[in-house]
Amino acid sequence: MLKARIAVLVSGGGTNLQALMDAETSGKLASGQIVLVVSNVPGAYALERAKSRGIETLTLSRKALGGQEGFERALHEALTERGIDLIVLAGFLSILSAGFTSKWPDRIINIHPALIPSFCGKGFYGLHVHEAALAYGVKVTGATVHFVNEVPDGGRIIAQKAVCVRDGDTPEILQRRVMEEAEWVILPEAAEKVSKEIMEGRA
Ligand code: GAR
Repeated sequence: MLKARIAVLVSGGGTNLQALMDAETSGKLASGQIVLVVSNVPGAYALERAKSRGIETLTLSRKALGGQEGFERALHEALTERGIDLIVLAGFLSILSAGFTSKWPDRIINIHPALIPSFCGKGFYGLHVHEAALAYGVKVTGATVHFVNEVPDGGRIIAQKAVCVRDGDTPEILQRRVMEEAEWVILPEAAEKVSKEIMEGRA
């Protein structure tokens, strides 16, 4: 069976990348194949996870490439050269410009650690999202997978899962619970759904 060629973009630890790779192993991600992992942060641990699985890795530093435009040009080139069908942002903590996202309509998905439209948009990434949720005092939070367009965290929603906030939660404790109960579940599911749709569109 022909599979969608997936590139995963990362910036950090890569637990969501791990969930995607595990889903490929278990067969939950059957319509797509991770063929490339790109980090915008040199030395990100996610790169080690990819290498130990034999997946090609690439580090593209904005600084070394002369800024956002140069970074996005190099990224677009790398993805096109490898025949990428689907881009998965899995803890990629940098905003892509409209110039880039418009070249990949319905071909970029992102995992966000909150129930959009809460705690999302510019400045809401990583631990900050959970700090904001706890500061507001919400009793339920969660994660969202959505398509990426020119509006940060504003593209069409693909999947969401709610997670309870508990008394005594710290941002770190809540982040871990949201990952375990929601992110690592819905990201592989959404990657499979979109990969399948892409491949069926071709049949
Ligand atoms: C995850 O919680 C992900 O949802 C979040 O960063 C973390 C990365 O962890 N992404 C965002 O905040 C995007 N706005 P990971 O590197 O272990 O997957």
